[in-house]
Amino acid sequence: MATRPIGIRPDQQPERLDQCRRCLLWEAATQAVPGAGPQHAPLMLVGEQPGDHEDLQGKPFVGPAGALLDQALDEAGVDRSRVYVTNAVKHFKWEPRGKRRMHKTPAQREVDACHYWIERELAEHDPKVVVALGVTALKSILQKPAVKLQASMGVAIKHDGRLVIATFHPSYALRSPDAETRESAYRAIVEAFRHAHQLIEKHAP
Ligand code: URA
Repeated sequence: MATRPIGIRPDQQPERLDQCRRCLLWEAATQAVPGAGPQHAPLMLVGEQPGDHEDLQGKPFVGPAGALLDQALDEAGVDRSRVYVTNAVKHFKWEPRGKRRMHKTPAQREVDACHYWIERELAEHDPKVVVALGVTALKSILQKPAVKLQASMGVAIKHDGRLVIATFHPSYALRSPDAETRESAYRAIVEAFRHAHQLIEKHAP
């Protein structure tokens, strides 16, 4: 008999995000962080999971990664107030280091458990283009745990009637040790936003 990973409850199908107990990440988080943005935004950005700032404020991409995201959107000519921004995982996963809460990458079972919410967001907002920020988001959106980020970049991938564009996570462009990698990652993010914007304009009614 297949065993279910400890703490994963696919049978739990909550109506509201704050009721979610589909995995155990809620226990150490301050709150679940829902997506934010207009109902009919043609562009959806999907990150990995809330960070420390997002966990405290209850909004996605409001910390340093959010500042870089805003800068890249601005440079690409995309207005953030017209974009729906969310995460593949809705609770902050962290481990203590001294007094700090350090980000911990979510396990695939947690990403899978949280796909329940992304599916609902895709159905509700029906974006034309989704930009996956990093490999966790890409795996969740495409439902392909083995997909590789760099091999997926630079093209629009058709998936479930919409287009998916993969790029680096803003934290990679912030925290890579060398300046050249940070700059080229930032450029790739701007390029992905421009590409998404062009596709939306091209297919605008
Ligand atoms: N990183 C993410 O992936 N999402 C956020 O909301 C903030 C940081």
